[in-house]
Amino acid sequence: MQQEFDILIIGSGAAGLSLALRLADSAKIAVLSKGSLTSGSTWLAQGGIAAVLDETDLIQDHVSDTLTAGAHLSHNDAVEFTVKNGRQSIEWLIEQGVPFSRDGKRYHLTQEGGHSHRRIIHAADATGRAVQETLITRAKEHDSIHLFEHCTAVDLITRRKLKRANNRCLGAYVFDSSTGHVNVLKAKFVVLATGGASKAYLYTSNSDGASGDGIAMAWRSGCRVANMEFNQFHPTCLYHPQAKSFLITEAVRGEGGKLLLPDGTRFMDKFDKRGELAPRDIVARAIDHEMKRLGSDCLYLDISHKPKSFILEHFPTIYERCSKLGIDISKDPIPVVPAAHYTCGGVMTDQQGHSDLNGLYAIGETSFTGLHGANRLASNSLLECLVFAESAANDIRSRLDESLDTAYIPDWDESQVTDSDEDVIISHNWDELRRFMWDYVGIVRTNKRLRRAKHRVDLLQQEITEYYSNYKISKDLLELRNLALVSDLIIRSAALRKESRGLHYTLDYPGQGPEPRDTILTPINFEWP
Ligand code: FAD
Ligand code: SIN
Repeated sequence: MQQEFDILIIGSGAAGLSLALRLADSAKIAVLSKGSLTSGSTWLAQGGIAAVLDETDLIQDHVSDTLTAGAHLSHNDAVEFTVKNGRQSIEWLIEQGVPFSRDGKRYHLTQEGGHSHRRIIHAADATGRAVQETLITRAKEHDSIHLFEHCTAVDLITRRKLKRANNRCLGAYVFDSSTGHVNVLKAKFVVLATGGASKAYLYTSNSDGASGDGIAMAWRSGCRVANMEFNQFHPTCLYHPQAKSFLITEAVRGEGGKLLLPDGTRFMDKFDKRGELAPRDIVARAIDHEMKRLGSDCLYLDISHKPKSFILEHFPTIYERCSKLGIDISKDPIPVVPAAHYTCGGVMTDQQGHSDLNGLYAIGETSFTGLHGANRLASNSLLECLVFAESAANDIRSRLDESLDTAYIPDWDESQVTDSDEDVIISHNWDELRRFMWDYVGIVRTNKRLRRAKHRVDLLQQEITEYYSNYKISKDLLELRNLALVSDLIIRSAALRKESRGLHYTLDYPGQGPEPRDTILTPINFEWP
């Protein structure tokens, strides 16, 4: 089946849905989600959205906090652009109906690590859910927005792949899990809003879909990616056998939560004078260091000194989830461990979200805008999704009178493949990949570990390519293929950075180099350094 749209948006998180809503009155739009509309990281976001909203706060301070957290690798222009446009993005969300928490007549602003001011607007401890529920409701009100659930984009269709001149993006091949068929969705403009790639790691705060599909599809279509070595590890995910991937928001530390060793001693002051409110890379590394030093499975985060009524008002979701597991956070410290949380690198874009490929945009976590540098400041991610969705929407609106490319697009060809008879290869490779990424390309790296990881990822990619060429595709196979490619990009980028900066810490080069430099990978032959 082939269908045509003005705009094909791959991803239904904060980035994809806000872009769709901003263009709904001007264009026919398809929005894809490979799971339900709520799959992805937006739904899981807890802490909130950073913006200069208080009259005593300053744009310059938010800019400066972002640059400091990013270990001075962030691009000044991207930071200023994002921060300056923050307030209007929040006002837009409020117009859409997002029920942010109030403190009397004003919105309550919470505090998070690395911020010099209270500037995080939130909906208790379930901000992402409040944002996404609202955006989905609004999107369903528009006949021009066509929502496709359980539809996974396989690859972008470009004129170059069809051996035509004047390369541009024409659409995507899309696998429909309910029918098992691959369809062609053709569009004037395609937007990658596919989220991050933290599923490359064994322990992650992300949902299953965070397999870096957008980054992999853009790379296969010839786009550059940057700074893939900076995968952010969140310091505090709940440590409990039944609590897969559950985050304990940084706002717990912002509201006075203390990090404790198993014997109840505080330790963060030893690592940074900002203590528990140091930026995430520092806190995650300190926890990792103490866990390894003590041989401990987890450390603890304690908010029990606050009144129970305060905890219930600010952290109802965390209270409930922990209670179900037998932890009363108003009395007991919470067992926590670091976990892969956010992909700072991604598809290179400018301020309008243009990628290197004409007609292809990338926004949200899948993109690299220059905002986050070597370490993302807490709650700057949803902000980036909203600000860049708006600027990409303005750009696309100005180009809507371009006509749809009439190039003939062949249907997906399944004549050379058969049904798989050994799906175990997929699950085995998936597990192996995520374990060696955790062990060799995690919070602390070395040249030797990176070489080991590179060797293994090369073998896996060979196996996956062979499997992909012989068997019919499934969602799991598509995700594994993308995850292996993105892991390869992470390893290569890490190997190229001969310094420790922000989230990239290597025992071989423990100091920070003199010049902040992005790691830019271009899809041509790469030589191991
Ligand atoms: P996502 O919300 O991840 O959405 C990705 C979408 O793409 C999904 O709809 C998915 O189905 C779809 N998709 C992916 N691949 C394909 C494909 N091949 N085909 C079709 N569809 C596809 N940030 C903050 O600023 N503040 C916070 O408080 C905060 N808390 C967080 C808490 C948790 C637990 C996590 C995991 C992250 C948190 N973050 C927070 C980060 C932030 O939530 C994400 O960076 C942001 O939501 C990403 O939004 P997005 O729209 O780019 O992608
Ligand atoms: C959190 O609530 O701690 C997550 C915030 C973020 O990832 O920005």
